[in-house]
Amino acid sequence: MKYSRLHTALAEGLTLHGSLHIVRPPVGYDLAGLHDVTIESTFYPDHQYWNATGLIGDGAKRTATLVVLPRSKMLARQTIIAAIAAGGTVIIDGQKTDGVESVYKDIRKIAAIHGVIAKGHGRLFWFEAGKAPAWDVTVKSPDGYQTAAGVFSEAKIDAGSALLATHLVDLKGDVTDLGAGWGYLSREILAHDGVTSLDMVEAEKTALECAVVNTNDARATAIWADALDHRGAYDMVVSNPPFHTTRDGNPDLGRGFIATAARILKPRGQLLMVANRHLPYEAELDAKFGFVEELSGSGAFKIIRASRPKR
Ligand SMILES: C[S@@+](CC[C@H](N)C(=O)[O-])C[C@H]1O[C@@H](n2cnc3c(N)ncnc32)[C@H](O)[C@@H]1O
Repeated sequence: MKYSRLHTALAEGLTLHGSLHIVRPPVGYDLAGLHDVTIESTFYPDHQYWNATGLIGDGAKRTATLVVLPRSKMLARQTIIAAIAAGGTVIIDGQKTDGVESVYKDIRKIAAIHGVIAKGHGRLFWFEAGKAPAWDVTVKSPDGYQTAAGVFSEAKIDAGSALLATHLVDLKGDVTDLGAGWGYLSREILAHDGVTSLDMVEAEKTALECAVVNTNDARATAIWADALDHRGAYDMVVSNPPFHTTRDGNPDLGRGFIATAARILKPRGQLLMVANRHLPYEAELDAKFGFVEELSGSGAFKIIRASRPKR
């Protein structure tokens, strides 16, 4: 996109006085023409990117909030309600595939829209904070767990993770759960008395905060980080790796988790992971481990154990 929707809006009538707080902009989001900006992001790789620009802040002095629409409808709604509560101008920028059209229709019922830019398969619009839409934003967490809007599988235990949990036998020593999410697998890992420590590595801060509550175990340490950069020396790596960064599947991320596992395992350590059956991880597993076996699976998932990590 040559000019972003925000850039076009600034050229066509959006005026900002004071500080603009931007919620969850993706890496590379176009800030051209902006002078006084703070940014918040709970996803570690994005947070690191914006931190390097010096713009991370809590928006305490904001006069306007820009919400970049997330994929999760519940998170989008919660974020917009929070932006309205903060007061001032509210700007919403989103793709059609992320539901911006229905958000626009709902906001139009409760506020006067001051401007709209429709381009690049999405829409940006702005209005003055006032009444919030009467959306139900209650997260329906699985029984016995705390989850939050927008985290992976927020309303139900993931079927792949549940299958992997049935293969966690005889776990002991120092373990890490790469991409621990809200902690379903981590709690299952900690059910094994032989586990002496568990590092829960997760990029999404909101999910990790839930994992801490859901495990509530002194052996567990929450690590907000990019798993691909994680270091350590473990007896066991357990993982249900992420399989997409956007709406599209991205096996590279899962391959990165496999390479990381090989790098952080002790020589006699093992990786135990679940993957969607169609994901092509075999070549990476064979490149990074001396022994790879499929333990079992279903039509949808495969459970893989890999040992003899190659350095
Ligand atoms: C398929 S989910 C598994 C979640 C959890 N283990 C479970 O079983 O419910 C993968 C998790 O990896 C996290 N993730 C994505 N990219 C990551 C990265 N670069 N570093 C660490 N975690 C990441 C996602 O936020 C998500 O929670």
